[in-house]
Amino acid sequence: MQNSSTIGFIGAGNMAYAIISGLINNGTSANNIKISDTNEELLSQRKSEFNLEVFTDNSELVEKCDIVVLAVKPQVLLAVCKDIKDSLNDNTLIVSIAAGIRSHDIDRWLGLGRHIVRTMPNTPALLNQGITGLFANEHVSDEQKSTAKSVLDSVGSCLWVDKEEMLDAVTALSGSGPAYFFLMIESMAKAGVALGLDENSAQKLSIQTALGASMMAKNSEDSPHELRAKVTSPNGTTQAAIEYFQDHDFEITITHAMRAAFDKSHEIATELGEAE
Ligand SMILES: NC(=O)c1ccc[n+]([C@@H]2O[C@H](COP(=O)([O-])OP(=O)(O)OC[C@H]3O[C@@H](n4cnc5c(N)ncnc54)[C@H](OP(=O)(O)O)[C@@H]3O)[C@@H](O)[C@H]2O)c1
Repeated sequence: MQNSSTIGFIGAGNMAYAIISGLINNGTSANNIKISDTNEELLSQRKSEFNLEVFTDNSELVEKCDIVVLAVKPQVLLAVCKDIKDSLNDNTLIVSIAAGIRSHDIDRWLGLGRHIVRTMPNTPALLNQGITGLFANEHVSDEQKSTAKSVLDSVGSCLWVDKEEMLDAVTALSGSGPAYFFLMIESMAKAGVALGLDENSAQKLSIQTALGASMMAKNSEDSPHELRAKVTSPNGTTQAAIEYFQDHDFEITITHAMRAAFDKSHEIATELGEAE
């Protein structure tokens, strides 16, 4: 982020906390960050954590910022947009992290022609291990794109999509994805208990295996497919399990599950965007 830009967060909850922590850890001065929220207790907590300026009036915050991050729940985004519409200036960059609300609906709610980057972060952002999909509308300049990316880079990595519909695919993969891995960890731990391990040991083995495998997949030059082939000796234990997965439609199940998430994401976006 440019050192001189001022960034304001509307909504001081979990995601705002994660991104602000990331920005400050990466060298952004707290003097260039502001927050507004309706929850005064939370605001005073954030003020003492980060020593930054806080507001209970969203429009007052917006007047003082070059970049505004919409970090409220999707259900209150329309009300927030109505609140701030007349206080934005023509160059304000809007970065929405609200799940599901499309950029053209935000643009309509804010008065047309706004510079909007819509993003889809995921929960590991809370540990700086997130991945965020980003989409920029036609009013966003290259410089604004790089500013928006630098904000989300503070909580992990980023990936641009050219078509906004692809954020539904990002939602189905990385947005909802942490829960798929939690289910896998949980199921493997339960299966370990069924094989005689105690619960704590089974959970520890399952979690550390997921972490180790992810780190190998991330750091290795081999693809996940090649890594799997390397650890699957012919007629060995891993092959016995993998064959069972494959004979029972593991990949098809995942494809269908993600299609269900994709369709749901599309449906929610349409429903929420219909509000006036
Ligand atoms: N958490 C995640 O992992 C994740 C991942 C991807 C996307 N997101 C998106 O990120 C956004 C924020 O999520 P979060 O988990 O940080 O939510 P959160 O913890 O509930 O924070 C939202 C904050 O906004 C406040 N608020 C409500 N109405 C407001 C208004 N009119 N003006 C200003 N502030 C208002 C809320 O106060 P009250 O609590 O008093 O209502 C709350 O403090 C959501 O849209 C979510 O879809 C989150």
